[in-house]
Amino acid sequence: MTDPIQQASNLISTARSVVVLSGAGMSAESGVPTFRDAQTGLWERFAPEQLATERAFRAHPAMVWTWYMWRWHLVHGVAPNAGHTAIGQWQQHLAKTQGSLTVTTQNVDDLHERGGAQDVLHLHGSLHAFRCIDCDRDAAFNPMTMELGPDQEFDEANLMSPAACDYCASGMLRPGVVWFGEALPHFTFETAIEKLQSADLVVVIGSSGLVQPAASLPMIGRDAGAAIIEINPRATELSQTADVYIASTAAVALPKLVSEVL
Ligand code: APR
Repeated sequence: MTDPIQQASNLISTARSVVVLSGAGMSAESGVPTFRDAQTGLWERFAPEQLATERAFRAHPAMVWTWYMWRWHLVHGVAPNAGHTAIGQWQQHLAKTQGSLTVTTQNVDDLHERGGAQDVLHLHGSLHAFRCIDCDRDAAFNPMTMELGPDQEFDEANLMSPAACDYCASGMLRPGVVWFGEALPHFTFETAIEKLQSADLVVVIGSSGLVQPAASLPMIGRDAGAAIIEINPRATELSQTADVYIASTAAVALPKLVSEVL
């Protein structure tokens, strides 16, 4: 039985049109909690229906806003890991050799970009984007103007009100993330599908594959004839059908794999 790293290296060395699909596990080694990992996952500690829906925001705007300010500051305080950097290098290498690599992520952090990746497709929006919940206009807002408590933790006793919309004045700003029950950004999702339909390799990193429609994307690549590599320390539903499943972490496996082609 060939070593999965060797099998994956063989696929990577010949791939010309790659799509990387990443989830929260991609940023775990940077210190950003995932959603569903036991004990540490955000949804193990907080209730998604109280923090990640429009209804929750309208019912408790300060609670939801403060929670996203906490997540923004957390991400701001960490650095991309070796996995993010390896993907950035691989993308540059393929761009120089008439190939292409598209990063499509469920993550709302900017660690792929800080790791050197260009034109990242954020399927679930971004912590760095803001818009008015009423007039829907995009708004420039700097979360550095909102200080968390000294321990930089989310503190229900120390809530901050959402910033007001400069245009309609009645509206509050909301984070530009996709909340449960909301549609994915249309152009971003359509572009991801397009890239998958012409891919020869799909690399799925750090996703439980439990949230649709993102969880169905690898199969669009498969239907177009692409090979699938999955990197995740814990097997998922995809692990059975992937061409290669690597039971490892993003920051350990990716530098090893990418160093083969660089
Ligand atoms: N490297 C690679 N994978 C990892 C690592 C790591 N260091 N650490 C954990 N993982 C894996 C876990 O085994 C798990 O399968 O990452 C996965 C994280 O799964 P989730 O927490 O469910 O995150 P994700 O799949 O991105 O969630 C999808 O759900 O809550 C919504 O909008 C949110 O985008 C999110 C979506």
